[in-house]
Amino acid sequence: MSDTRPARGLDTNRPHSARMYDYYLGGKDHFEVDAQAAERVVAVFPSIFTCARENRAFMHRATRVLAREHGIRQWLDIGTGIPTEPNLHQVAQSVAPSARVVYADNDPLVLKYAERLMRSTAEGRTTYIEADVNDPESLLDSPELSEVLDLDRPVALSLNALLHFVPDAQDPHRIVRTLLGALPSGSALAISHCTPDFDPVSWEKVEDIYNGSGTPVQFRTRKEVAGFFEGLDLLEPGISVGHRWRPDGASEDVPTDAEVSLWVGVGVKP
Ligand SMILES: C[S@@+](CC[C@H](N)C(=O)[O-])C[C@H]1O[C@@H](n2cnc3c(N)ncnc32)[C@H](O)[C@@H]1O
Repeated sequence: MSDTRPARGLDTNRPHSARMYDYYLGGKDHFEVDAQAAERVVAVFPSIFTCARENRAFMHRATRVLAREHGIRQWLDIGTGIPTEPNLHQVAQSVAPSARVVYADNDPLVLKYAERLMRSTAEGRTTYIEADVNDPESLLDSPELSEVLDLDRPVALSLNALLHFVPDAQDPHRIVRTLLGALPSGSALAISHCTPDFDPVSWEKVEDIYNGSGTPVQFRTRKEVAGFFEGLDLLEPGISVGHRWRPDGASEDVPTDAEVSLWVGVGVKP
């Protein structure tokens, strides 16, 4: 850890998804318990580093495409994660300095570092809300959200590497419908989601590690991920493996689909 002061509500006795993800990305904002759990994942799926890196790269490209080609100027990013440069608002504001971003996560450690998410351009705005995606109504009702986002204008809802932490028992489709229902026509949905489709044996082991350490997960098939975009117009190239969605040639090594093991997509509300 770069800062050893515990944050309010922080449970350092068991691994947490945000801090394990920080480990995969080569960050320093995790504890030993997270590193150990992450290493157990690495042992069964060594490409988890590629998967995490490509997930981040998809977020960058999707954000730029929405800002450049679809005029999006507002984002609601749920399951933000521990700040990792460039954060979503930095990508969006590099295209449109006036971009506004509301970040939300339920991990107290993300809150602890939230000031890193608040370094907005003078023209734009960002804020951070500690919130659980399983209660979308409270998030939508929060005054911090309405201070930054104008829900009468298009908003991109960004749910990157989040929905596999919402098993079917928690009805993720209702959650996505509720969030999109609050957004006007022209709004967008960007999703990335881990999948067992290319390497089911390894991903079953990954699922066991997360479930066994107290973080329920459900990795989904292409068809299941496509279901989240029902009623939206999918941008080309549709539901794709992470690195195949509008590649920008930034990365020299092209990974295999199994190494990436992420379904991604971006849809626009008609
Ligand atoms: C794998 S990280 C993804 C971070 C970032 N979105 C990205 O794609 O780079 C998943 C994030 O979702 C958050 N998360 C998990 N369950 C959540 C929930 N029920 N409500 C809000 N955030 C949640 C975790 O705390 C973690 O920060």
